[in-house]
Order: sequence, then structure tokens, then C-alpha cells
Amino acid sequence: RNFLQILGRTTLITLVGTTGAFYYITQRERHPGAQMPFDPEKKTLVVLGSGWGATSLLKTLDTADYNVVVISPKNYFLFTPLLPSVAVGTLNPRSIIQPTRYVTRHKKRAVSVIEAEASDIDPINKTITFADNSEIQGQVSTTTIPYDYLVYAVGAEVQTFNIPGVKENACFMKELHDAENMQRRFMDCVETAAFPGQATEEVDRLLHMVVVGGGPTGVELSGELHDFLEDDLKSWYPELAGKIRITLVEALPSVLPSFSKQLINYTESTFKESKIDILTKTMVKEVKEKSVVLQMPDKSIQEMPCGMVVWAAGNKGRKLTQDLMAKLPTTQTNRRGLLVDDYLRMQGAQDSIFAIGDCTATSYAPTAQVASQQGAYLARVLGSLAKKENLKNMLHQLESSIDQVKGEEEKKAAVAEIESVRNQSAKIKLRPFHYSHQGSLAYIGSEKAIADLPFMNGNIASGGVATYLFWRSAYLSTLFSLRNRTLVGTDWVKVKLFGRDVSRE
Ligand code: FAD
Ligand code: NAI
Repeated sequence: RNFLQILGRTTLITLVGTTGAFYYITQRERHPGAQMPFDPEKKTLVVLGSGWGATSLLKTLDTADYNVVVISPKNYFLFTPLLPSVAVGTLNPRSIIQPTRYVTRHKKRAVSVIEAEASDIDPINKTITFADNSEIQGQVSTTTIPYDYLVYAVGAEVQTFNIPGVKENACFMKELHDAENMQRRFMDCVETAAFPGQATEEVDRLLHMVVVGGGPTGVELSGELHDFLEDDLKSWYPELAGKIRITLVEALPSVLPSFSKQLINYTESTFKESKIDILTKTMVKEVKEKSVVLQMPDKSIQEMPCGMVVWAAGNKGRKLTQDLMAKLPTTQTNRRGLLVDDYLRMQGAQDSIFAIGDCTATSYAPTAQVASQQGAYLARVLGSLAKKENLKNMLHQLESSIDQVKGEEEKKAAVAEIESVRNQSAKIKLRPFHYSHQGSLAYIGSEKAIADLPFMNGNIASGGVATYLFWRSAYLSTLFSLRNRTLVGTDWVKVKLFGRDVSRE
């Protein structure tokens, strides 16, 4: 009886304690305190973008050092790794975004967040022009501001290789609206196939989903589509479910070229079991309204009827990035993106522009992992630069007032102080950026995931249900806030209990 009483009390105390802590953290997040105002003495730091690189920078940056202005056409951060889950309704779109102000309102000095798209950067005069391109605009919708430092973190856009019909007829998987658009289109195909009197051939076409690109995005999306089909569509559309087909088209000899051979084989065999067709060495040449045109491994051309095409064939630089590079033609010569030095300074931009993430051309893959490590690193660099600047100002003041110092002792003390400030400044040394790879993870459907993890100078390759649980917990802990973790966790439970919603908005 004593044991039961102790157990009961311990459970109660733990429950009350956890609820109390949870409530305290959420309320602290919801009600940020007062912030220091902008200081005209401080330098202006403009951050372009609100994605992985920019958000990681803002989280780590000590804003007391600068007047910070964030400019992005989206006033939120998007957790891209879970975007394919939104496309099939496993997650609510709002669960994987975080308003940028939820980060900046907790910083020491106020940060100005502007929902606008940068349209021009003048790296010589250090100005940036941006415009409000949203539906509602005020009397002023475009303006130009000066910057001392610019952090360029605008990411990349979808690469279409100018293949005919891609922009007009395919869905993408890059932004939140892409996932929502794909979900609508997918359900439209299913409902149209269910329309009475539809010919068998037309039903087959409508229920054929083609994913282009066997990189991680295409593979994860195919896996998620398969889950939707197995877990939900079979129950609600029993007459159609057996007819839904998923085909993944990849130009290279295998999918997931960045993963180990063992995991590629594992993915291919899982897809085979899941009845997802993989066409390798096959290149999409055109996307039509009701079909895709393929160049097969033997170079023959085939037209494959389908209801939906999702284009996940990689990234290319944004026009803004190309325009910026064109302004520094002698140094910016890499077509893949901005060239930066080891300290992430854009080459040729007078040490005033830093570039991070997918907009750069480095030896690193364009991943969230790289962008977020670069953002955190740059925040530390900017902190050091601010410290150096403060010491420089202090030195200037001390040196210019030394002649007014009277008395031998006082003069000695002033000289010693100057020396100490000089030493402190000399000690501030910038270290080059170093990337630490934490491994690669990808979901492949059927509650299975694959992981290539660095371990003791080697790699562990693992795949299966345990890896899937690891994948879930890794992404849950990587989500930037308790709010998002709670929302995503709740969505997972809801889908387990009630299934995915098959209504079409
Ligand atoms: P982004 O995160 O794309 O941010 C760019 C920002 O710039 C955005 O806020 C955008 O609105 C803003 N912007 C655009 N134009 C302008 C403009 N003109 N002016 C101002 N701002 C502008 N990587 C991983 O490591 N692991 C994963 O599991 C993973 N999964 C992914 C899943 C999907 C579906 C996708 C599409 C990508 C995934 N990635 C993953 C890759 C990862 O998302 C990118 O590498 C990462 O987003 C790059 O960060 P970034 O800051 O450079 O760019
Ligand atoms: P990607 O560039 O990795 O893959 C695109 C694929 O499309 C390539 O394999 C390419 O050969 C193929 N392709 C291009 N044109 C084609 C055509 N016309 N026909 C057929 N195939 C064609 O792009 P993805 O998957 O969007 O990934 C972008 C970046 O984001 C990568 O660095 C990736 O590592 C990262 N990412 C990481 C994830 C993870 O770690 N789980 C998930 C998603 C993305």
C-alpha cells in the first residue's frame, strides 16, 4: 500500500511539475519583454531571407551589437524537411512554420522585420532596394535603405532546365503553397477518377502520379504518397485504391546518389515492395497537361499518361543572385552561386556582404544542415566584428585624449590602457567556417527511414523501422520551438487516431 501511495504521489508531482514548466515556457514565449531601441551609433545589419540560414543567424546573434533589419517576402521560417508530410495531409501546414517575429521579439535589441522582396543590391554604395509584392499595398510599396553589413541568405529556386511545360503543368515541392497545391491537385485527380462513367484508360491516367527527380525530395515525397494511399485512400476509395500508381523518374543510374550504396539498395527494394516504380537513366523531356515525355535509357522517346507530375529536380540560383553576381563580374564567376571566402564573405564585396546557404557555390551540399551551421557561425563572426569595432572606437578616443592627460602617473596609466585595448583587439581573431556533418536522414515510406551517420571516422548506414523512429525524434528535436514540436507531435497522434483528411479544399 505504501509503495502504491509513493508511486501515486510521485506521478502526481511529476505531472503537475511538467504541466507547470510547459505552461511557464509557453507563456514566456507568448509575452516577450521590452527591447532596447535602435541605436544610431550602431551599424546597420540587413538580413535577407527568413529560411534556414537567416533564422539560425537570428537565433544566435547578439542584437545588442547592431541595428538589425530582416527583409523577406515570407514573414515566417519554413521547416522544409517535413514539407512532403504536409503535401499528403499528415501534417497541418501551420505546424511547420514559425513566424520570424517569434524569434526576433525575444532578442535584446529590437529587430525590424519587413515583409518584402529585395529587388536590387548595390554592393558599391551599400544599398538595398525592396518592394512589398503582397496582395495589399500601402501608399509606399518600394524603398531603398543603406546597410553596413548585409547577410545574403535568399536560398535558391526550383531548377526547371527550361524543359517545356514544367512551369505550366507540374507541381513543385519547395514552398508551403507548393505542398498545399499538390495536395489539392492529387485529391482532384482522385475525385475526377471517381466521376461516374469515366473510361478505364482515363481512370488509369488520372491515378498515375509521376515524381521527377530521385534526390531526397523526390524519394521522400514518393514514400509519403504511398503511405497516404495505403493508410487512408484504400479505406475511403476502395474501388480506386488498387489503380493508383506512383512512378519516380531519375536521370542518373540510381536514386539518392548522395547516400551509401547499401541504403540506395534498401530504398529501391522498399519501393519495389511498396509498388512504387523507379525509372532510372530516364530523363523527362517535356511535361504536358496529361502526360510526361520521357527519354528512355535506350534514348527512345516515350509518352507516359499521368494525372499529376511533381517536379523535384533540384535547385538553381535566384534572379536576384544572378543580378548581384553580374555587378561583380571579375570575382563572381561561378554560375552555381555566390563565391565566398572561408569566412563566408562574398568575394569582391568590400567585406560588407556575407552569403550563406543555398545561394552560395561552395564544396558543401545545399542542405539545411549547412545553412544553419553557417548562420550560427556568422552570428559569432558578427559578434567578434562588433567587439573589434567597439575596441577600435575606444582606442581612437583614448589616443586622441592622451595629450590632455596631465601628470606622469596618469600618463603612464593612459598608455597602459591603450596598450591593453590594443592587445584585446589583436586577440580577436576570426576562425574560418568549419562544417561538421551530422549525417543524412530520409523517410522512404512504410514507416521506414534511412540514415547515413558519421561514426568514429567512418559511417553507419541504417534503414528500417527503428531508423524511422530516430528520424521522427531527430526532426522533432530540430524543430526550432516548443510550439512547433507540440503542433507536429499532435498532428502525428491525430493521424494515427483518425487518419489523414481526404477532403479537397
Ligand atoms: P531557404 O531556407 O530557402 O531560405 C531562403 C529565404 O529567402 C526564404 O525565407 C525566402 O522567402 C527568402 N527570399 C527569397 N527571395 C528573396 C528576396 N528577393 N528577398 C528577400 N528574401 C528572399 N536539407 C537538409 O539538410 N535536411 C533535410 O531533411 C531537408 N529536407 C528538405 C525537404 C524539401 C522538400 C526541400 C525543398 C529541401 C530540403 N532540404 C533539406 C534542403 C534545405 O531546405 C535547404 O538547403 C535550406 O532551406 C537552405 O537554407 P537557406 O537559408 O539557404 O534558404
Ligand atoms: P537533388 O538535386 O538532390 O536531386 C534532383 C534529382 O533530379 C537529381 O538526381 C537529378 O539527376 C534529377 N533530375 C534532374 N533533371 C531531371 C530530368 N529532367 N529528368 C529526370 N530526373 C532529373 O534535389 P532535391 O532532392 O530537391 O534536394 C535538394 C537539396 O536538398 C539536396 O542537397 C538534398 O540533399 C537536400 N535535401 C535533403 C533531404 C534529406 O536529407 N532528407 C530531403 C530533401 C532535400
